[in-house]
This record gives sequence, structure tokens and C-alpha cells, in this order.
Amino acid sequence: MLNRRDFLKSAGALATTSVFGQSSAYADASQARPTSAPGRTVVSLNKGWRFHEGDIAFPVIRGHGWTYANAKAGNASGAAAPGFDDSEWNSVTLPHDFASAQVPEQSANVAQGYRKRGIGWYRTLIRLDEADHGKHIELQLDGMATLGTVWFNGTQVAHTWSGYSSVYIDLTPFATYGDALNSLVVRVDADTMQGWWYEGAGIYRNTWLVKREQVHIATDGVFAHPVFADGQWTIPLEVTLYNIRKSAQRVQVESVLVDAAGKTVASFGAPADVGVLTRQVVTGSMRVAAPELWSLEERNLYSVRTRVLQDGRLLDEVTTRCGFRTQRFDPELGFFLNDRHVKLQGVCIHQDHAGVGVAVPYGLLDYRMRRLKELGVNAIRCSHNAQDKRFYELCDELGFLVMDENRVFNPSPEHVEELSWLVRCHRNHPSIILWSVFNEEPIQGTEQGREMVRRMVAAVRALDTSRPTTAAMNTGQFEPANAAQAVDVVGFNYQYQAYDAFHQAFPTVPMTSSEDVSAYQTRGAYVTDPEKHIFASYDDDASSWGTTHRVGWKAVAERPFVAGAFVWTGFDYHGEPSPHEWPSNSSFFGIMDLCGFAKDAFWLHQAQWRKEPVLRLAPHWNWAGKEGQPITVMALHNMDEVEVFLNGRSQGRQKGDIYEMNRWQVRYAPGKLSAVGYRGGKVVKRFEVETTGAPVALKLTPDRSLMRGDGLDAQPIQVEALDAQGRHVPLAQHQIVFKAEGGDIIGLGNGDPNDTSSEKGNTRALFNGLAQVIVQTREGSAGTFRLSASAAGLKSAVLDVEVRKAQPWAYQPTSAPVQVLDGWRSSPQSPTPVDPNLRPAGTDMNSWGWITPGARAKPAGQTGYMLYATDVYPFARVRKQGGILEFAEVTGPCQVFIDGRKAGEKTTGAPAPLRVAFPAGEARARLSVLCPLTAGQPHGLSGVVRLLSF
Ligand code: GAL
Repeated sequence: MLNRRDFLKSAGALATTSVFGQSSAYADASQARPTSAPGRTVVSLNKGWRFHEGDIAFPVIRGHGWTYANAKAGNASGAAAPGFDDSEWNSVTLPHDFASAQVPEQSANVAQGYRKRGIGWYRTLIRLDEADHGKHIELQLDGMATLGTVWFNGTQVAHTWSGYSSVYIDLTPFATYGDALNSLVVRVDADTMQGWWYEGAGIYRNTWLVKREQVHIATDGVFAHPVFADGQWTIPLEVTLYNIRKSAQRVQVESVLVDAAGKTVASFGAPADVGVLTRQVVTGSMRVAAPELWSLEERNLYSVRTRVLQDGRLLDEVTTRCGFRTQRFDPELGFFLNDRHVKLQGVCIHQDHAGVGVAVPYGLLDYRMRRLKELGVNAIRCSHNAQDKRFYELCDELGFLVMDENRVFNPSPEHVEELSWLVRCHRNHPSIILWSVFNEEPIQGTEQGREMVRRMVAAVRALDTSRPTTAAMNTGQFEPANAAQAVDVVGFNYQYQAYDAFHQAFPTVPMTSSEDVSAYQTRGAYVTDPEKHIFASYDDDASSWGTTHRVGWKAVAERPFVAGAFVWTGFDYHGEPSPHEWPSNSSFFGIMDLCGFAKDAFWLHQAQWRKEPVLRLAPHWNWAGKEGQPITVMALHNMDEVEVFLNGRSQGRQKGDIYEMNRWQVRYAPGKLSAVGYRGGKVVKRFEVETTGAPVALKLTPDRSLMRGDGLDAQPIQVEALDAQGRHVPLAQHQIVFKAEGGDIIGLGNGDPNDTSSEKGNTRALFNGLAQVIVQTREGSAGTFRLSASAAGLKSAVLDVEVRKAQPWAYQPTSAPVQVLDGWRSSPQSPTPVDPNLRPAGTDMNSWGWITPGARAKPAGQTGYMLYATDVYPFARVRKQGGILEFAEVTGPCQVFIDGRKAGEKTTGAPAPLRVAFPAGEARARLSVLCPLTAGQPHGLSGVVRLLSF
């Protein structure tokens, strides 16, 4: 029974006022991360990465010794090697979209917003504490664009095949602890495309390390979605356990259902035997009497707390949120939630935003979701891929119904695993009502298409039978063999003329629009100009395959058997500037622009989707030079009647048409254009717009007046120009320069699809009166974040936002680049001192041994000498400036030689560190350590050896 308000309260929310006049709040955005609990530690791995844009070719491997070594575990070469020199790479913090920093270039791909993408390399060094030894260590990467290869300590541990799925990697068998650092390397290939829209590039979602006991609950391992059957609510439970111990383990699994007040309302317990290195699924159920239902109005959420115990000791604990609701698609009447009819007033979305590309901070995501709420949206289609995990939580909290969608249409095992992940990861969210297996596949109207879908639907049903499956089809539903035959609800992309024919032919098959409209608007523009790539906002311009907003909604609204609409799209997105190309680089389809600013389609849909009175007029009333000429005035409303006035003189009262909307031709004269809306003959709403004067000043308006000083919180700030009377000037296009103090500007936008300037930096032009700056706090900050804006000829604006000290996420310690020296060989023991220049023959795999410094020193069998040697290729910084050779621990005496010259020595026998100066200017050096041995005395390189830069 955790509703949004209580949830925010419990999460330490900051109550604020939004620019849009509505009170809003923003939680600490902590939910989407897997949270720590007794038995498990979860730390963010977003910090401490080094990044290289562009590919780094793997070396061509030659010669017997190198080829032999190359074939071995742990010996990845090139930039994947633990010892690769990344000392001069840039430091980055994730989420990171390196394409968003690209300025559009005409030679790049129009579909991807003319941003160059390419290959990127990320490297970090992780220090795992001795206390982590014996734990299960899992790396979680929540999203990389597009394909990824991951190496841990020189071993390739994953290939990822989707730019939209999480990947969970068990690092335990490869991990080292204490001072021996662990090398983690990720190569992302963003040349590969899985969409025809802007997909970003890099590790663009969060990354985590999850440290658990050896017997624990697997990731996404609790399924607790309530079902209602035979008049009774039940939570069928599935808990997946995993055991990496060396023997089977008996444990006790206990789940309790907790309401918002913290009261336990149901419980379950069962013993389980978990085999060695196997997954064990424990099933059970909890009956629940009269729970508070989750609905769009009342987002009552419960928690299922699942614990694993052994002999009374708590091994693991996971809290899973769930909601009680029923759902049904009726072939005659559409969709029902809790047996109440809900027409789906949906939008399709992509995941990017102005200024930041696909690396959208949670504060900005929260803003986007609230904008959709204001619009009157009650359903969202994740077109055409999984969104960030936080998105689904916000849908549960704010009250949206979700059509979740798989990206790659392919039933082969690798890709089916992506679909299975999607369902496993999201299936506890009460907001999800549909699983979509594809969007618009050319083979959808064939037997092959149907057979592929059958297999993918089977994969969904193996994990969740409580929601129907669908596929978003733009043709093929009438073919003798087609994909629609293999899903539960048939999705129609466009083809609104076929709704009736399909329903008549298949009256028992539920259907919904899965995508519609694809109309074009440019925010704040009222004259279509194909030369300039501008679309007017009267809803008269639509794609050849789509409809206007008005026609699209009417076709759905008047047909009860069509469950709802999913308008293409809620927001503009980078890429796909259809029907135009360069310089257009983002879409024209959005109900809102790339910044979330309303186009007139916003008021049109708000009028159609919200019950309360809505009345707006298009256009603005600044038409200097058009005096006396007719201007089309359109009322966007849900009134019985609307009357329009110019400077107090009626321009006519019209019967309201809530589908088509109403228009007047008004001869322009500066002044006040106003409208009065009637319901049942009574005035219920008024609207007015005035001719403004010239702009004189700038104004900055935050989304929230309070931010968290955790280095994570981000928000959009609206920029506009005002006239002398403080009125918004709709046509201002000034170039603005910004300055941030006490925080950072992380992106800029203005909603103009034709603007090719950078979305990074500190300057952006207003577009039709508006621009947006996305700002982020710094970790550990408190006090004031100040943004200043200035433009030639206008009074500057200064905005202060209060920043409160806030707990940052817990981060995994990482290390600056250090060169761990490896590849050590040990000479055969000799009665006389070994020449430090001696090296084994290239083919010698036997008389000289291999050693990894750090192993415990062993007593020598006989008195004599031994040489340890390796080749050192110093990192660039050491080559330039010189450095320090650091032996973390040497046992016994030794002499250190660099290229045969003595560089240092240790004379004592007890284990101790040793530091030796390393000269600049060496591209390759032979490092040798000569150890005199005394029978029975321990000796050797008992600690790691590193080369540090100054
Ligand atoms: C659809 C497609 C969308 C988008 C849209 C533009 O066919 O599913 O991804 O491309 O067209 O109208």
C-alpha cells in the first residue's frame, strides 16, 4: 500500500514546485539500483573509468612464445590486456554516451542523428578487499550501445548482443583480492546498429558490483506478481537460489508480504536444498485477503521481503515491489484494469533527451515521466526496446500502463535470452500489461514470421503467463500464415483503415493500435515551409503512412474493440528526422519537442485525454507585418462551445468539435486574442494570448527549486526571453551564454530539429522563445547552485537553486592507472650469480619457469642464486617523466637491475617493500632481480610489482 506520496516520503523526497505550475516531487532515485541488504553489498561501478574513443587494433601475434601465451586464460592482448597503457586516457563517469558529444556532421548517418558513433574502450582497475574473498562477486552492466565485449583480468567474460539489455557476469572465479588489482575492460561497438533512430554510444546505463554470500538469491530471482483467481488473491512465489560452495546446502527460504505501514500481511517459508553450482527454484504461494489494489489513480504498492537463512544465520535478503491488480483484453470492449474499462491513451517513446543523448540521469527521467502525466497519457510503449530499470519503477509509482518491447526479433538462443531477461527483470511491475515480441518485421505476414513468434511467445510464457503477448505489425494480419496468429493481442501499427475489417474477420481476437499518427510539428511554428524544414502546428501535416493526431485518435476512440492508441511519439528524439534530411537531425513526430516543451499537439491530446476543462489557442499573437491579414486560429479544447475574441470583439461562437477541434480566420491586429469555453452553457474555461513587445530580459526557471548534492541529481532549466512587461516572447531566437557555479552543465537543447550546433558546452540559441540547460550537482556539494544566462542586448538572468547535502551512492573503490609488471620468468637455480642479462630462449617453456609475484615466499632447497626477469614497456607517462618501481614485498635479499645496470638492492632477509627509481626515456627495459638463496630461508617476490608514474 505504498502510494507515490508515501513512497517519496519514505525515500526522503524533496517537495518542490514545477515550472508547469504543478506541485511535484523527486525521490532520491535510489530504487532502480539493486540495494544492499544484510548478506549483500551493492556498489556502483560508475566511477573511476578511463575511456578511449575509437578502436584500438589487437596486435598481430607472432612467434612461438607469444602465440603460446596468447592462447591462455588471462592473457588477452592489446587494449584488453590488464597491463595495457591507459595512463593518458580521459577519466569518465558513467552513464556515458560518447555520441552525444558529437556535433552533427552531414557525412554521418541521418538515422542516427548525424552523430558519429564508432568504437569506444573503457578500462578500470578494481581493488577487492580481502573481506570480499569468499563472496560471490557479480558485475551488472545495465546497458551498452550497442554490442559489448567484456574482459576481466585478461579473460573475455561476456559478449553482449543487444544495446538495450542488462548483462550479469559472475566474476568470482577470476577475481583477486587485496593489493593485486583486478582489470576490467569493456569494448563497445556502436558501429553496429539495432535501430533506425539515435542509439547513442558507450556504457550509457548504470554499472554495479553485487557481492553476496556463497549461497544467495540469484539476480532477478524473485517472482512475486499477485494473481486473482476463484475470488482469491494469491502471490505465486518463485525464488531462484544459487550456491557456489563446494557442497550442497540446506537453507530456509522465507518471504513476507509487507504493506505500506510496514505490517506483515502474509508469509511463506520452506526449506530448500541447493546443489553445488546449480540454480534451485523454490516455489510457494501467499494468500492475501482484501489487498488495496494498484490502479492508475491509487498506486498502492506492497513489498515482498525474501530471506535465505541457514542455521538461523541470514545469508541473503531481497525486497521486491509488487501491486495487486487484474487485467483483461476484451475482443469487443478493449482493456480492463481491475474490471474497469480503461481506454489506452498511449505514446511510444525512445529513451534519449536533448543534451545528454541516451545517458539520461534519473532526475531528468523523472521530469519526462511527469510531462507525460501532465499530457494525460496513461500508457507507454517502450518502442522498440527495454528502457532503464528506473523507468518501470516510475511507471508503477506514477500510474502508467506499459507495453514492454523486445528489440531483436530472433528466436535463436542468444537473442531469446534477451527476451527472457526482459520478462524476468520486469515481470514484478504491476504497470506492465503487454509483452511485445517485435515491431514491424518484414516477414510478419509469413509462416516463418509466425513460427519465429511462436518460439518467442513460448519463451515469454515460460516466465510469465499473467500478461498477454503482442507484436506491433504494420502489415500481414490478413495473410494465411502470419505472426498475429501466434500472439494474444494483435497490434496494429498505422493501418487504421483495417481496424474494422480485422475485427469483422476475427471478432474473438483482442486488438490494439500499437503505433499510430506519425504527424509532424515544429514547436512554436505556424507556417509550414518545406524549404526550411518547418512544420506548422495546426495538425495538418502527417506522414504518408500515418494520420494527423486528430484522425488517429478519432479512429481509436470511436471503436470500443480497439483497446487504445500509442501515438508516435511522446517526445521528439535524435535521429530519424523524417521526411527531411540534413540539416534536420532530430524527429518532428513528438507531441513534445526534444526538451519536453509542449508543441500544440500537447494541448490537443490533453484536451482529448484529460477530463478537466482544457482550452488553448494556437498560434501566438505576434504577427507584425501581417496587420489586416487573416490568421488561422485553432482552439484545442474539450468544450461544448468556444467563442474567440480579438481585443474584446467576438470572432464567433462555435459548437465544439472535440475530435477535429475548431478554427477561425481572424484578421490580425496586435492586442489580446482570447477564448471562452462553455460546458452545458456555462463558462468553464478562459484563455488569452497577447502581442508582446520586444524582448528585454532573460528568465531561467528550474523544474525543481531544490536539488540533492550527491553528484547524481540533475534537472532541466527552462530558458526564455521576456518583454518589458514580463511576458514570454514567442519568437526570440537569441544566442545565450551560460555559466554554472556550484554544479555542472551536462547538456543543452532548444527543440529545434534543424539546429546542428553542439549540445555540450555553455552556449545555445533560443528556438522560438525557449531553450533548456540540463544541470547536475557535484558530489558532496551543499548550498547554492547558480546558473547565469546572458545574451547581447538582454538583461541577464541569474538563478539560484538550493542544494542539500545528500548521501551519494556507495561506489566500488577503483585505482588510477598503475602498471602491474607481469610476464615474469624465473631462471633455473645456479651455484654462482646469474648474469642479469640472461634470458630464456624464445622456445623455452620448460627450463625457465613462469611466476606471478605476490605468492607466499617459499624456503630455498639449496644455497645458490636465482634470477627473476621480465620485459617492461613503461606507460607513456613514465616514459616521459620517469617513475618508481614498487615491489610491494620482497622476501630475502636481492639486487635489482634495469637493462643490466644495478638500480637498487635490499640487504635484509625479512619481508619488506622495496622502491627503486625508474629512468625516463625507456621504451622497453629488461628488469631483473637477482636473489641469493640460503638453504631453508624463504625468498622471492612475495608482493606485486608495479611501475608508478610521478
Ligand atoms: C514506424 C516505426 C517507428 C518509426 C515510425 C516513424 O514504422 O515503427 O520506429 O520509424 O514508423 O513514422
